[in-house]
Amino acid sequence: MPALRRDQALLPRPTRVSLRSGHFTLDATTGVHATPGAEAAADLLRDLLTPATGLPLPPSPSGTVTLAVDAGLRGLGREGYGLTVSPHSVLLRAAHPTGLLRGVQTLRQLLPEQALVAAGGGHPGLPTGPGRERDLPDRWDLPCTEITDVPHRSWRGLMIDVARHFHPVDTLRRHVDLLALHKLNVLHLHLTDDQGWRMPVAAYPRLTTVGARRTGPDTAHSPGTSPRGPRPHAGAYTRADLTGLVAYAARRGVTVVPEIEMPGHVRAALAAYPHLGNHPGRALDVWTRWGVCDTVLGVHDAVLDFVRAVLDEVMDVFPSPYVHLGGDECPTTEWEQSATARARVAAEGLSGPADLRGWLLGRAGAHLRERGRHPVAWAETGTVLPPGFTAMSWRATSHAAEALARGHDVVLTHHRTTYLDYAQDEEPGGPPVQPGPVVDLRTVHRGDPDPAASAPGAGRVLGTQAQLWTEFAPTAADLDRLAYPRLCALADRAWSGPTPWPDFARRLAAHTRRLDALGVRHHPTTAAPSEPTAARTAPSA
Ligand code: ACM
Repeated sequence: MPALRRDQALLPRPTRVSLRSGHFTLDATTGVHATPGAEAAADLLRDLLTPATGLPLPPSPSGTVTLAVDAGLRGLGREGYGLTVSPHSVLLRAAHPTGLLRGVQTLRQLLPEQALVAAGGGHPGLPTGPGRERDLPDRWDLPCTEITDVPHRSWRGLMIDVARHFHPVDTLRRHVDLLALHKLNVLHLHLTDDQGWRMPVAAYPRLTTVGARRTGPDTAHSPGTSPRGPRPHAGAYTRADLTGLVAYAARRGVTVVPEIEMPGHVRAALAAYPHLGNHPGRALDVWTRWGVCDTVLGVHDAVLDFVRAVLDEVMDVFPSPYVHLGGDECPTTEWEQSATARARVAAEGLSGPADLRGWLLGRAGAHLRERGRHPVAWAETGTVLPPGFTAMSWRATSHAAEALARGHDVVLTHHRTTYLDYAQDEEPGGPPVQPGPVVDLRTVHRGDPDPAASAPGAGRVLGTQAQLWTEFAPTAADLDRLAYPRLCALADRAWSGPTPWPDFARRLAAHTRRLDALGVRHHPTTAAPSEPTAARTAPSA
């Protein structure tokens, strides 16, 4: 098969590419002209390319590379861009500065893959591989091309669970870089869970002094404590880690969406502050099992104070328009047995303890909305989120359509197509993964049918994201292996819409050289470009 030109091997695939003959050469004399509003994108271009190519790319009004914001450009939206590479000039244009940030990543992919790698460094934790100390060429060629590119969906993300295993902020920065390369724009951080609380909260310091550390399994023989169960583990971010990450991501056009789980998945918080639970006198440990824990937040006034104080600090650190409140897997047994909870049910006119989940989410969501933020929660079914919540439908594809019909905006996070903690092939003997279905590359590439097509409603499909739950991903190498190349397939679908498998597979083969240059420790990428066989069953919930 003939090698693809680099403008045919872009990932995600641009909306329109017209190949032209010839090339533009970047060399030591090339300057970059940024029109007003384009300076940040020009700085990012320089920050990314200068360490990798050795080219200074200085700001220059007569530069042959021009980055321009033109608010009058039609049809590009906030993130679209147009790129024209001619033999003597490069013109990158967008209606909004964010579009230029996407175009900068296209320029990087149009260069040989060596231009992705910072000479002499790269990222902490990465092996020093070939290409890190190398002789740099003096001239770098871009193929002449004309590209117009507009994303299919506005929410294109990756969730990383830093609660089950803490991943240091340098690892997260590296993932932000990789997200940006793939034109993904959301890093959703699952910051709290039964097994660890990772964000410092000044008003409740024990959340991290106590809640960020778990001991080993309680007994050697109970079902949740097999060798695959949690090990002793600790870790928390500083506030400076998180504000620094937010700024780093923003420069790359990536929003960090925080998630604070409630009312379930709160055992680490209850270990720190037992009075927030349904048995205020009971001492609990940070959970030493995987799974769904019966202990949930109480519904007394001190809990509302806690939720508001935590969310205020979350909003201080994370400017994201969206704040995720969790809401999944909330057993109601404790509320059923609690006189305080039953009194709350009566006082609020609820039909029973099962309604307390929605009640508490609704109170927390109102606090966010009064401050101009949008609450997000996992949709356990299509019907139980309070109005105004954005729903992440994860259990069944039908829940997305039901949530849309009820007026919720939806992010598609169906576990059979977006959970990257599941195995990616049937090969026995690999590292432990989350028990469940195989989610292979083709399954992620195919994704789910658009629920809006069959069930138009008042809500909108904002987009999709992949999930990296980390029960079985304690190391940075685990994250790489689980995310790549499947995240490339999700990025292609989220940015480009459905693309033919053979086309994706050919581009991925070329793109794998970029992943290798970046030192991504990906799962083998041997995707054959043939069409999938008809015998495969479609995933269903
Ligand atoms: C989830 O997987 N519990 C959202």
